[in-house]
Amino acid sequence: VSTPEVVPATTGDSMPSLATTLERDARLADDLAPTERADDGSPTDVLLTGATGFVGAELARALLATTPARIRCLVRGSKELSARERWAGICRRVDADPARITLVEGDLESGALGDRELANSVDCVVHCAASVNLFAPYAALRATNTLGPRAVLAFAARGRPKAVHFVSTAGIFLSPHYRRATVFEDQPVEGQEGLSNGYAQSKWVADTMMARARTRGFDVTRYRPAFVGWHSSTGRAGEHDLVALLLRASLAAECAPNLDLQVNSTPVDHVGATVARVVARTEARGGTYHVVNRRAVPFVELAELADLPVADFSVWRAAVTARAPQFTKFAATVHAAEQDETSGSAELRRQFDRTYDDSSLKRALGADYTPTPEMDAAYVALLCRAVRP
Ligand SMILES: NC(=O)c1ccc[n+]([C@@H]2O[C@H](COP(=O)([O-])OP(=O)(O)OC[C@H]3O[C@@H](n4cnc5c(N)ncnc54)[C@H](OP(=O)(O)O)[C@@H]3O)[C@@H](O)[C@H]2O)c1
Repeated sequence: VSTPEVVPATTGDSMPSLATTLERDARLADDLAPTERADDGSPTDVLLTGATGFVGAELARALLATTPARIRCLVRGSKELSARERWAGICRRVDADPARITLVEGDLESGALGDRELANSVDCVVHCAASVNLFAPYAALRATNTLGPRAVLAFAARGRPKAVHFVSTAGIFLSPHYRRATVFEDQPVEGQEGLSNGYAQSKWVADTMMARARTRGFDVTRYRPAFVGWHSSTGRAGEHDLVALLLRASLAAECAPNLDLQVNSTPVDHVGATVARVVARTEARGGTYHVVNRRAVPFVELAELADLPVADFSVWRAAVTARAPQFTKFAATVHAAEQDETSGSAELRRQFDRTYDDSSLKRALGADYTPTPEMDAAYVALLCRAVRP
């Protein structure tokens, strides 16, 4: 069981020096300046990062379907597979002609975007890669989540003019400052004060950096999903999907915990299709877009839709231990986070209800806008079918 999207606060990281580091990391180098604006029209040569991941694979699929562009995927080797083998896996997964999806081998942490030829060819970067480790402190995520976007901007400043599309997260609003608020896409993001989770902090730095780059003349578009949920036709869930993990553990345990969690989730294919539509549409570029669900639902409502009885935490944990021991550690983590008032996930309680307005996205896409589908019984049933033990 991997790390879920919501985790306890990163203890030990709330010293003043961290705040200074975050503010400093969000600054742009004085001499960073864009080339001219990228050509209007659908891009022709896209560099996509993160295509081996949950969201990135759907983005690759949607970009192929929505634009005529060549898609270059930045891929690194893993312990088991070379970058080339992993790239071939992406081609199979999205059923793409290898002539349209090409490999750029490299790791964001080791100068992958330094190539001059690449900078001279690409006219659009879709930056989706990130370390989505919700238990790690900021320092451990900085190289990928902060220096990665910084490298993307430096890349955009060289060679052919480029549009930059950055996958951010609504998690940057999980501080007490935004409790019970409606967050609008165009409102300036406040400081990092009160953001207690290392992952959220790293994405705040990157989102802020991207906003500043736009002010400096870069052609930057930001996307902010809240939870990214399972695929709306296959039921396939991402490894960081806390809600899917909770339902999986609960299906195996035959009961769900009485968890106070507000779920605002958008199916991964909807996120991919939405981003690709904006990428293809010149007049939509340069905005900030919430890719969210207009109706957040309580976790217990999802449990009921899955026909699971809701039980007290102690009963649920005992049932997990007895019937689904592979989820024992996960259940303990969820329980600890529920009890910890300083936990990053405490911000997702229903009483702190946040609404993410997506009017800018609606305006930008016009007739192509489709609202995120509600998390209804049919959607929950899909996951149940995909994961029922
Ligand atoms: N999942 C959500 O609920 C959610 C919600 C809001 C926003 N987001 C954002 O959506 C994006 C994708 O998330 P995800 O859930 O799809 O995560 P994921 O499945 O873990 O995918 C992350 C991707 O980033 C790549 N990556 C990480 N570090 C890299 C590095 N140093 N160099 C090159 N590539 C690197 C990974 O490559 P490897 O396979 O080689 O590790 C993988 O392709 C992230 O920016 C995340 O912040 C996600």
